[in-house]
Amino acid sequence: MDYTEILKWLKDNLNEERYFHTLGTAQCAKELAAKYDLDCEKAYLAGLLHDCAKCFSNEKLLDIIHQNLDVEECEMLNYKTLHAPVSAYIAEKEFNVKDKEILSAIRWHTLGKLDMSDFDKIIFLADKIEPNTRDKEYCEQIRSILKENNGLNKALLKCYKETIKSLVKRDLKICLLTIEIYNKLEDLVNVN
Ligand SMILES: [Fe+2]
Ligand SMILES: [Fe+2]
Repeated sequence: MDYTEILKWLKDNLNEERYFHTLGTAQCAKELAAKYDLDCEKAYLAGLLHDCAKCFSNEKLLDIIHQNLDVEECEMLNYKTLHAPVSAYIAEKEFNVKDKEILSAIRWHTLGKLDMSDFDKIIFLADKIEPNTRDKEYCEQIRSILKENNGLNKALLKCYKETIKSLVKRDLKICLLTIEIYNKLEDLVNVN
């Protein structure tokens, strides 16, 4: 696939750091896809587009949401999560992405969802452990968890634990869905 048009659009619509993060996420998603026997090309594309609306203003995000999308109530609590549904919307409208797996992975890369597919999980994780902008020590921790048996769920659980800890530390509210996903991952990790 030729990514020239997408890369140009991303360069025009993201700041430098976010563009760098995007390239890292796409590459990391491709590597994780290979590791878990998933479609590398689709993973690369999902990685490229996962944050495409990240640098839109809050007004623009809300405008697109109000006119076109349904979002979770808790997503409206934190503007930082709003770029995920809008990025999926832009991927479909601007780049004609119709693949449901790609759109789902982009849509749920911030909050996650209860029934995440392996494809959703690798995009979620690639976003957290891409080497270009993420903390090196944290990336190493997650990468080493991924090597364990049932590593995908264990790595995801680690991410949710860190997110919940960080929200508590900052006196921020925790979305009920986040707790539900955490509980489900605890079950999945302890079954195996
Ligand atoms: Fe994001
Ligand atoms: Fe991201």
